[in-house]
Amino acid sequence: MEQELIDLIETQINKELYSAYLYFDIAEFYRSKSLDGLHSWFEKQAQEEIEHAEKFAEYLHDSDVQFKLLPIDAPSNKFDDLRAPLMLQIEHEKYVTSLIHNIYKVAEKIGDIATKNFVSWYVSEQIEEEKTAKDILDKYDLFAKDGGLGLYQFDKDIGSSRK
Ligand code: FEO
Repeated sequence: MEQELIDLIETQINKELYSAYLYFDIAEFYRSKSLDGLHSWFEKQAQEEIEHAEKFAEYLHDSDVQFKLLPIDAPSNKFDDLRAPLMLQIEHEKYVTSLIHNIYKVAEKIGDIATKNFVSWYVSEQIEEEKTAKDILDKYDLFAKDGGLGLYQFDKDIGSSRK
């Protein structure tokens, strides 16, 4: 595999693990607010990000590439209100989408058909990730932003929305 692609995938492993770190941070924020449904949802999201990283690592391994793991940044750990992490999730997923698209474009430029094909899975996955993040914010704005029972029900629903 070309070094340019190896570097990008090593960075992507790091970004996926950072995503997990970010979502664990958000999960802890919601747990500190006694919102157990949002805590549980973001904890599962974090686990999914680790799987995304593992899938890239396995691909490099299967392609006979020795790779290195890069240091993971610390998340900010500061949120002004209950809505802020939901907004941050959307922005972060858009950023991840741009990184995935870049890997795809570089694979195409180089003519690495196998990597292009492999990354296609992430291209589709990011459509889903962005849509889900936007749905959660929309529902929060519609039903939960004023607190009280709306927030209680929203939190309960989101907690049971994924296994
Ligand atoms: Fe692995 Fe949420 O992107």
